[in-house]
Amino acid sequence: MKKTILTGLRPTGNLHLGHYFGAGKNYLKMQNDYDFYLEIADVQALTDNFDNPEKVRKNIKEITMDLLAIGLDPEKVNFFIQSKIPEIAELTVFYSNLVTVSRLQRNPTVKNEIAQKKELFGNNGESITYGFLGYPVSQAADITCFNGELVPVGDDQLPLLEQCREIVRKFNSIYGETLKEPEQVLSTTTRVKGLDGNEKMGKSLGNAIFLVDDEDTISKKIMGAITDPNKIKKDDPADPDVCMVYYYHKLIDNPNLETVCSECKKGARGCVACKRELIEKMNEFLKPIKEERKKYEDNPELVDKILEDGTKKAKAKAEEQMKNIRKAMKIDY
Ligand code: TRP
Repeated sequence: MKKTILTGLRPTGNLHLGHYFGAGKNYLKMQNDYDFYLEIADVQALTDNFDNPEKVRKNIKEITMDLLAIGLDPEKVNFFIQSKIPEIAELTVFYSNLVTVSRLQRNPTVKNEIAQKKELFGNNGESITYGFLGYPVSQAADITCFNGELVPVGDDQLPLLEQCREIVRKFNSIYGETLKEPEQVLSTTTRVKGLDGNEKMGKSLGNAIFLVDDEDTISKKIMGAITDPNKIKKDDPADPDVCMVYYYHKLIDNPNLETVCSECKKGARGCVACKRELIEKMNEFLKPIKEERKKYEDNPELVDKILEDGTKKAKAKAEEQMKNIRKAMKIDY
């Protein structure tokens, strides 16, 4: 019996290199060995985009195409849409009795997000919505509705997984041993830095290269990337370790990396030339991904079918699991 993997992505935008190296590459490895459920978490995306449903709707297909473009195989991965599995919403309601409000308020991921969304939630979080505060509960339902055993996530998500395990333990202690405690699978690659040198590449930070960026956009972004600030003239020696251009040469495995490094250190390569080389290599790197994506862009009905089939399988699995859960809770009337 293959173990069950469950992970989710919020459909709020296209995937960037941070997603690819931090998560996508991991999924590619895991798709062969596990029963893989990949949730397009539209309900969760609405917790902080409830006033912008068009954005969420549009990005369901966008993000699915990005995931297919990097090489995820719909024969191996069940892509499904969260809102099409009402069992998750049902389970969220049951779990909401097993979590205190103060525990949610202390969840580090939730706390960080509230701090980042001051305009949305007010300075002291006094206008934070019930739905947003409760999204870790809903995420616990996402995972356990499918008996998810392994959950590949970034380290920012660890408090959510801990919260899920607490809910599982509480559930089992009250209603009897029913649910499995999920384990995280941490990504083997580190977080990808932004073009601006920020520790994190992020959609909202404006420092990301998206897998769908066209050549012009890539060229402009890379031309604006941060290099060694101490290098003033083209033939000044510089430190590649503080240069984002070198960082990306390394990230995408430029076979010419050693030359890039030694020439940079000697002052034998100007930043503009170095950026031009990176632009070329970046375009080569993204080419097969874009080609694969084009297949789906030209045949959007393929994407609909993949989501439909995956959702059907996910629904069957969730229905089974809900039977066990309702029985344990003595509400299997
Ligand atoms: N919270 C995750 C994120 O923002 C997305 C997500 C939703 C998720 N449901 C999940 C991740 C279940 C893992 C398991 O990236």
